[in-house]
This record gives sequence, structure tokens and C-alpha cells, in this order.
Amino acid sequence: MKIIVLNGSPKGDISVTMQYIKYIQKKFKQHELKIINISQRINQIERDKTAFHSIISDVKSSDGIIWAFPLYVFTVHSNYQRFIELIFEKNVEYAFKEKYTSILATSIHFFDHTAVNYMNSICDDLNMNYIDYFSLHMYDLEKEDIRKNLLKFAQNFFNAIENKVITLKNYSPIKYSPIRYIPEFTHDKIDVSNKKVIIVADSLENINLKNMIDKLRNSFSQTIELVNLENINMKGSCLGCLKCGYNYECIYTGKDDFINFYNSKLKTVDIIVFAGTIKYRHLSSTWKRFFDRGFFNTHTPSLLGKQIGFIISGALNQIPNLKQILESYTQWQGSNLVGFITDECDTSIEIDKQLHAFSYNLIKLSTVNYSKPATFLGVAGMKIFRDEIWGKIRFPFIADHKAYKALNVYDFPQKNYKSRIMNFILILMSKFPLIRKEIYSNKMKSSMIEPLKKIVEDKTV
Ligand SMILES: Cc1cc2nc3c(=O)[nH]c(=O)nc-3n(C[C@H](O)[C@H](O)[C@H](O)COP(=O)(O)O)c2cc1C
Repeated sequence: MKIIVLNGSPKGDISVTMQYIKYIQKKFKQHELKIINISQRINQIERDKTAFHSIISDVKSSDGIIWAFPLYVFTVHSNYQRFIELIFEKNVEYAFKEKYTSILATSIHFFDHTAVNYMNSICDDLNMNYIDYFSLHMYDLEKEDIRKNLLKFAQNFFNAIENKVITLKNYSPIKYSPIRYIPEFTHDKIDVSNKKVIIVADSLENINLKNMIDKLRNSFSQTIELVNLENINMKGSCLGCLKCGYNYECIYTGKDDFINFYNSKLKTVDIIVFAGTIKYRHLSSTWKRFFDRGFFNTHTPSLLGKQIGFIISGALNQIPNLKQILESYTQWQGSNLVGFITDECDTSIEIDKQLHAFSYNLIKLSTVNYSKPATFLGVAGMKIFRDEIWGKIRFPFIADHKAYKALNVYDFPQKNYKSRIMNFILILMSKFPLIRKEIYSNKMKSSMIEPLKKIVEDKTV
């Protein structure tokens, strides 16, 4: 069989992900696995019609497609996303229709599920026959049990193609026909006081987005800065080179304006509003490039203590995966999520009201310096980073290691002598049936609230 592997790594052949594909190649010599470097060659693919159509004809004539990609900031690399946009923009969905497909991802398991969900939904939108995903930690190939399962995954994929199995759809098509939003309602202007606010947008071509942004800007007494990402000189997308690991210095430092914009604008304001249009289940690849290039801060939160909100034109409420990505991004950055405003309302007045409440909350929450604690998304995400930076990837991420020490991210309970002694005593005591009965039947609930009760009852806190 002829299988096309669409390689999502910007590193092309020198890719961790491709080692897994090469391992499958080695074990299934009877099948041809043709690797096409998508992310690395995106500029050529976009510029050169012949290059693009030769990929599409490879896809069309294949028996199956493997979307093989590394995780880049919650999902696929911006160039891979651009390729997905091109499939729809150039109306070549027909080449993917009913092709059998699977996903192979490598990462450190930080939000690998959102990447898989995104790609699965794209496969469903393309009417492909989606079989399965296999999401690997980047060094899993060293583990025998995982290698065995990887081969089972590949075998299952090949069998499914041979047997023409019926596949399951996981995502319904998006239904989105928005109203044309024209601001109608005028509210009293909100004083931003000494708060610095910035709105960052990917494009103002979409009238609903432009009008929502205008309305937000008009809600304030002062002029609010609006930055269009299209006007920031960016020489390219993230190369995955990890030069940033040592001291946050990016390969593009001094070569384009992105780092300066991020450091001198985004890091210095109090409130950031991200504005964009949904394109094929994600914000645009322009936005994605922003998120990827923001990785020059590596795994260190870079927008600590800010209020962040999103203005989005598109069916965000039908794409909980995207909402989760944006919420998780905010938590990872150490910012407070104020909310999402979309144009999914039935009337312009509803959007007006939402925007008014949103602008009011942005300023109010910033004024009182409010920050809600992270949920599972932020807490679990940081624990993955903590363990990785402490362990295997401390080199090359030396800057993260220093920052994690300073930010107290290394909160393992290694030195918690008090709880270790308490655990020792309690485990020992619970070996005696009478004491165990007393603890588990009568003392459990009251002892759980004991430390909290002390604070509630303490008049000084
Ligand atoms: C810019 C950048 C962003 C990344 N973002 C994520 C991420 O969000 N989640 C994750 O688990 N790993 C992330 N990684 C780790 C890569 O997914 C992982 O190292 C992958 O195996 C690299 O594969 P490749 O060599 O094929 O590009 C990121 C790496 C880089 C360089």
C-alpha cells in the first residue's frame, strides 16, 4: 500500500516524530510510506502551485494518510495549520475525502489531547475515514512496550484500509451563520485610569471582528492601542531550534520586530485582548505563528498577573477544544481569564451588552489585581513542565530551570518533613485495628477540616 505521511515538524527530516515513522517503515517494508515535509516547506508549498498540487495528487492516489506531527504550543505547528487552511481555501478537500487516516503525535504530553482533538476534527471536516491516534512522549521509542503498541497501532491502520472498515465520526460539522454585527447601543464610557490596555488582532478584514474591536475601543474614555499582527515584521515562524533554551534569546532576535513587540508591549501592559477570526476550528495560522514564536519564553510564564480576554468572530461555542486551548494558554501564562466574547448572539444589542460587561470587567479586575486560581488545566500543565524541566530536558532549557527555582515551581514535597513524619506515624497507627477503626470511622472528616478551621476561626487573617 502507498501511505502518505504528512510531516508537521518544521525540522523536516531531522525530526523526533519522523523517527517513529521510520521505525514503522522498518517493520512494515511491504508498504510504501512516503514522507512529505509540510511544515518545513510551507513557503514553497504556498507559493508554488506545482508543489502544492503534487502533494494533493500524492494524497489522492494514496491508500492512506498519516498526519504525523510534533506538538507546538497546544496544537500543531503554525505552518502545518497553514497547510490545513490551504486545503480548504484551494478547495482540494476532494483529495482527502474517504481516505483512511490516523494521527501520530510526539510531545511531552502537555496538551497533546487538544492537538489530537483538533486534527481529528479536521479529518472529520475533510470527510476522511479516521481510524485512531497514537500520542507519544518524544522519547517513548526507547520503551519496548510502547514500541510494541506502536506497531499494533500501525498494523491496525493497515488492516483497516485493507478491510475497508466502517469508521466513526467524532465531530459534527460546524453550523455558523452569524448576524452582521453593527454596534447600536451606547453606554457610559469606562475610565481605564492608569491601566495599560492593548488589543492584538490578526486581521481586520472580517467586519464583525472589526466592529467588535471598534465597539470595545469606544467603550473606554481613553484611546486603546490596537496592534494588527499583519503589521508586525515577522521574518518567519518558529523553527523549533531551541536556541531560546539557554537565555530566551531567539534565532530571530534582532532580525525582526516580534521579540521587541512581545517584550516591550505585551509584557508591560496590564490588560490584553486577543481578537481573531476562527478558521477551520482554530484561530488563524497568523495567530498560531504568534503563539509559536512566543515560545522564545520557553516554558516560563511570560504574562504573569495580567487580565486577558478574547474577542472572537466564529463558532467558538461549537469548538470547546479551542476554548480549552485559549483558557489553558491564559492559565499557563499566569494571567487571569476575563472571558470570551463572540459574534454568536442573535442581535447586535446582545453583543453590545456583552462587550460592555467585558470592558467593565477588564478594568475592574485589573484595578483590584484579581487572579482566580488555576484549574486542572493550569495546575496539571505546570506539573508536567516542572517534572520535565527538573528531569530530562533541564538541558537545553537552562533559562526555565533558573526561572522555576525563582518562581517556586519546584514544589515537590521532597523536603516536607512535617507531612512525612505525620504520614509515618499515622500509617503506623492505622496498623492497629482499634485505632484504625477510630480514625477511619470517627476522625476522618473532622481532621480533614482542622487546618482550614483554624484559619476561619483566626481573627487576625
Ligand atoms: C516551539 C515548541 C513548542 C512546543 N510545544 C509543545 C506543547 O505544547 N506540548 C508538548 O507536549 N510539547 C511541546 N513541544 C515539544 C515537542 O512537541 C517535542 O519535542 C516533539 O517531539 C518534537 O518533534 P519534532 O522533532 O518532530 O519536531 C514543543 C517544542 C517546541 C520547540
